[in-house]
Amino acid sequence: MYGQYGGSLKMSINLVTFKGKSPYTSACPMPSHSDPQIQHLFIMTGASKGMGLEMARQLLSPHHLVLCMSRKASTDLAQEASSQGAPLVQWCEDLAQPEPVAKRLTAWLAEIDQAHLSSVTLINNAGTLGAMAPLQTIPPHTITQAITVDLIAPLQLSAAFLQATNEWPTVQKILNISSGMSQRAMAGAALYASAKAGMDHFSRCMALDEARRPSGALIVSLAPGVIDTDMQRELRNGDEALFPDKARYVNLQTSGALTSPKEAARQVLAYLHHPEFGSESVVNIVQKREMLQ
Ligand SMILES: NC(=O)c1ccc[n+]([C@@H]2O[C@H](COP(=O)([O-])OP(=O)(O)OC[C@H]3O[C@@H](n4cnc5c(N)ncnc54)[C@H](OP(=O)(O)O)[C@@H]3O)[C@@H](O)[C@H]2O)c1
Repeated sequence: MYGQYGGSLKMSINLVTFKGKSPYTSACPMPSHSDPQIQHLFIMTGASKGMGLEMARQLLSPHHLVLCMSRKASTDLAQEASSQGAPLVQWCEDLAQPEPVAKRLTAWLAEIDQAHLSSVTLINNAGTLGAMAPLQTIPPHTITQAITVDLIAPLQLSAAFLQATNEWPTVQKILNISSGMSQRAMAGAALYASAKAGMDHFSRCMALDEARRPSGALIVSLAPGVIDTDMQRELRNGDEALFPDKARYVNLQTSGALTSPKEAARQVLAYLHHPEFGSESVVNIVQKREMLQ
């Protein structure tokens, strides 16, 4: 029914699709699902590694349909979904070109039978540092690409998501993964920090728009703390001459202060499911940890 989008709730779902190519299924046997089993729909960017991969793993369930988007698909995730009988769709998409991805999401959501869904959630998690350096040393293409992935893609996907689900009788949530750098100025962080500050602020504004709608979407921009992922490795491997806080990130690792991706994902999802979600539009997980134990 949903052909190339690989997202029918009425057919087997464990697909990886590449832009412009036919979808193929994972090597594992595909689980079969019927409408009433699936109660929650999650759409997440950046699920191929790091915290996003762990969030996707923790979201797998026969009762959840999970749609992931990143440039690469995760074969481990596909295998775990197959073995759990959990519906999973992975799109290989470059969010540096977000407009066609947003259009694809709109078309995919239009085909979803939401009758049995009780919630639908967009998690804008994909992120890139671009370059940790003074702005004038960064090539124009890198500036455009980082701002597009970190800020424009979340805006485009949020718009597509809200437009498509506006009339759905389900709880709608958008969780934007921000950073402590959105609030704290740091030399060498102009590119990344400005994108995350923009994410915080568009979340504040969207939350006000949604509050004016009956049963409007809950919007949160959340800083997830410092996590032991490739992004942290990039910060530690930075050039001290361009990014003077590099030593701080080296210390975070040597002192054991980094949260594992698995635990960070647990905390973020616990906040997503917490009754408080949506009561504040900008949140730092560090201030919520006690509540999320
Ligand atoms: N790690 C930390 O300490 C930390 C701290 C504060 C905030 N955060 C935020 O947390 C989120 C997850 O970070 P992480 O540490 O897990 O990062 P990570 O390990 O570097 O993973 C980044 C994810 O984003 C995806 N991505 C990057 N560029 C993309 C593009 N052009 N198109 C599509 N997907 C793209 C990657 O997938 P592909 O490479 O397959 O495309 C990957 O799945 C990010 O928003 C980050 O800013 C992280």
